Amino acid sequence: MAKKALVKVKPKNKIQIEKMRVACKVAADLLDYLTDFIKPGVSTLEIDDLAVEWIATRGHKAAPLNYHGFPKSICTSVNEVICHGIPCDADVFKDGDIVNIDVTVIVDGWYGDHSRMFTIGNVSKEDKMLIDAAYHSMMAGIDQVKSGAYLSDVGAAIYDYANDLGYGVVENYCGHGIGQVFHENPQVLNYDPKDPSQDCRLRAGMIFTVEPMINQGTKDNYTLGDNWTVVTKDSKKSAQFEHTIVVTDDGCEILTVSEKNYLKPPYKK
Ligand code: MF3
Ligand code: CO
Ligand code: CO
Repeated sequence: MAKKALVKVKPKNKIQIEKMRVACKVAADLLDYLTDFIKPGVSTLEIDDLAVEWIATRGHKAAPLNYHGFPKSICTSVNEVICHGIPCDADVFKDGDIVNIDVTVIVDGWYGDHSRMFTIGNVSKEDKMLIDAAYHSMMAGIDQVKSGAYLSDVGAAIYDYANDLGYGVVENYCGHGIGQVFHENPQVLNYDPKDPSQDCRLRAGMIFTVEPMINQGTKDNYTLGDNWTVVTKDSKKSAQFEHTIVVTDDGCEILTVSEKNYLKPPYKK
């Protein structure tokens, strides 16, 4: 029996897709720029400062700043922080840390959203494997994308990839549609909700992020008193990558591409 998909999303047209291509390339360029500064002794606030200056110089805007009250321009999520870490001067990178840097830039009104993991100095084998699993679970989800496919298949691929390796897959945060709005439909869950009302049939031109959060231990998490920083319940580490992609007839185009991406597209198994 055919699946019933109830979430309706309007695909973007060629002009709109080109706007997103530009915005997403800016996001990738920004992460490329920040890469060399992410090393021991540097604070997450210094990375935020660098991003602020880089974005302003080009006449763009940082989407996170003041978004629902978020106080900084990028998110920096170190070790047990799953997402939405707030840059701060007390947060200084040290040997063995892993960090997700998540940037969203607004370019001519269009949002490009992109994050990568970075390693500080010598990182344990265990942590490298976590980062690898987060990247490959994202790519396993992206591999499912094409016109006619279902978002539930994307979520299932992400979940199965990481769960089979014994990792916790965070379920209470997800990817999202994006365009002239930061977060719009559809919700891109990192598991199969097995509920048609939360599913979406993909059509060429739909643009959304894929951004699984993968934990060394439990998927359970809570938010700190700052109302933003999401941390693992067991204090074990977490990793995340995020691409913004556009659905095509036979697959998708990754819009947040760069030579410095963790692994160069096209992804090979
Ligand atoms: N960039 C994040 C995402 O991938 C959202 C950050 S919202 C903020 O959706 F307010 F925390 F910046
Ligand atoms: Co996002
Ligand atoms: Co993001």
